[in-house]
Amino acid sequence: MAKTLTQMATEVLTTADGRSKTALSKRYAAEWFAARNGDTPAIEVGTATPPLHPSRPDKPELLSPRDVPRRRPGSEAGRIALLHAVAHIELNAVDLHWDIIARFGHVPMPIGFYDDWVKCAEEESRHFEMVCDCLEAMGSHYGALPAHAGMWRAAEDTAEDLMGRLAVVPMVLEARGLDVTPGMIDIFRKAKADQAVAALEVIYAEEVGHVAYGSKWFHFLCGRENADPKYVFHQLVRRYFHGALKPPFNEEKRAEAGLPPDFYWPLTEDLPLPGDGKR
Ligand SMILES: [Fe+2]
Ligand SMILES: [Fe+2]
Repeated sequence: MAKTLTQMATEVLTTADGRSKTALSKRYAAEWFAARNGDTPAIEVGTATPPLHPSRPDKPELLSPRDVPRRRPGSEAGRIALLHAVAHIELNAVDLHWDIIARFGHVPMPIGFYDDWVKCAEEESRHFEMVCDCLEAMGSHYGALPAHAGMWRAAEDTAEDLMGRLAVVPMVLEARGLDVTPGMIDIFRKAKADQAVAALEVIYAEEVGHVAYGSKWFHFLCGRENADPKYVFHQLVRRYFHGALKPPFNEEKRAEAGLPPDFYWPLTEDLPLPGDGKR
């Protein structure tokens, strides 16, 4: 029997080694798009039971965010630590995009939904590899430093809520990436670290699409339920995201990704919603 897309997604999730995970991710993305182009037989989406936590390598050691040592980005060691943190985010992102496919296979969605997340997973795989290449060129590697534990929390919290997943992962967490990446590019440009600048510029350009897909499918689901997207977004982010959103925002790139200011600005203060019993 040919593999279904959700089976492929689960296989990526259960591959522990970083570069093995991204190699498999790219292979399955290529197989999906070959089938979608009609070059090979169609692949069913199917349903699967993905693990609650994806498999990860033994290293890096995962620490609570406050225990991860902070280093100044003005030093080479600081820049390595920054890239190491980016590599960790990208590897999580590979799993997050395959997880949304595997986890919600039972929710009927248009085929374009799967195309979008497979494309994102393929891009995150390249992001991870590019950042690993930079680390290795600087004499380090992914796993050489500790990394943040808890990056999977948003996925766990929204494991049963597709709209919650879209609100928190692409529309809050990945949108945050758009806010902070220009500052990171500046750090590496000042250090004349051309390889890192090139990698971060690719990441910055491609991440706009990930946020846009989140917004697109979030609006699609709201439309299907005849719900007000802005209201639902505020409810879901307050339910699943721990803490307020932090300005400054990259309003231009957020707009390009289909995130209007009235979606995120009201979430910058941890105010209770009318009729919301929380807090
Ligand atoms: Fe990425
Ligand atoms: Fe992304």
